[in-house]
Amino acid sequence: MILNGKIAAVTGASRGIGQAIALDLARAGAQVACIATKEANAQTTVEMILAMGGMAKAYGCDVSQTESVEATFAAIASDLGAPAILVNNAGITRDTLMLRMKDDDWDQVMATNLRGAFLCTRVVTKAMMKAREGRIINITSIVGLHGAAGQANYAASKAGLVGLTLATAKELGARGITCNAVAPGFIETDMTHDLPQEMKEQVQKSAPLGRLGSPEDIAQVVTFLAGPGAGYMTGQVLTVDGGLTL
Ligand SMILES: NC(=O)c1ccc[n+]([C@@H]2O[C@H](COP(=O)([O-])OP(=O)(O)OC[C@H]3O[C@@H](n4cnc5c(N)ncnc54)[C@H](OP(=O)(O)O)[C@@H]3O)[C@@H](O)[C@H]2O)c1
Repeated sequence: MILNGKIAAVTGASRGIGQAIALDLARAGAQVACIATKEANAQTTVEMILAMGGMAKAYGCDVSQTESVEATFAAIASDLGAPAILVNNAGITRDTLMLRMKDDDWDQVMATNLRGAFLCTRVVTKAMMKAREGRIINITSIVGLHGAAGQANYAASKAGLVGLTLATAKELGARGITCNAVAPGFIETDMTHDLPQEMKEQVQKSAPLGRLGSPEDIAQVVTFLAGPGAGYMTGQVLTVDGGLTL
């Protein structure tokens, strides 16, 4: 129970990687604010945590909207207390080749994936600075490090998250706050569910570890970054991809 007594906020906690992160942090003893676009979406994760004897609460929030983020984190502070751990995991894709990419495809992906992480980071920073303690973990992607055809918007947002991670680490390190990123490879969730079977088989063949990733593969690395074992790490991007990008 390395996170006993800690309050964690996880965005995109209704399913996939975010749900696994919320469960794993709760297993380690954290009280978890589970954030999704609608409170009802995050409630499933909360019920799973309560069923295993943990403590969690669901919140509906659009991370791309300042007012929504500020109201949500004010509610979290009043219900549970100020988070010592923030996991910026909420993310979307709007994949298409650049020639066909609409302004709105670009704007929505940047707003959720990058602006959302900035807004959530900004809102938790004051209390973390006062407490001289904080862990911020951004979920980027190997696509943000290596690019991918048909994902100009997504790749730019995830590369932007790497820059945000480095700047946050430098700006807040002196206040006892660390900021690191995790770059997952191909993980089996709703986001990758509809990709062609041949693509999944290709990934499986190319990855030295010979399988696609699970949400739990990512969650356990996030819990490590949130825990005492990662106290002297900041500004790092940990690739968790079964060796796919080697
Ligand atoms: N799956 C992969 O292979 C993979 C690889 C690399 C990186 N990642 C990254 O890992 C993160 C999680 O991916 P996933 O595969 O678990 O995705 P997912 O299954 O599609 O889940 C996305 C989550 O983000 C939430 N969300 C979307 N827009 C939001 C908004 N505006 N405000 C608040 N919450 C919002 C969704 O909430 P609702 O349920 O309410 O819609 C949901 O909880 C993403 O940042 C993704 O880019 C995934």
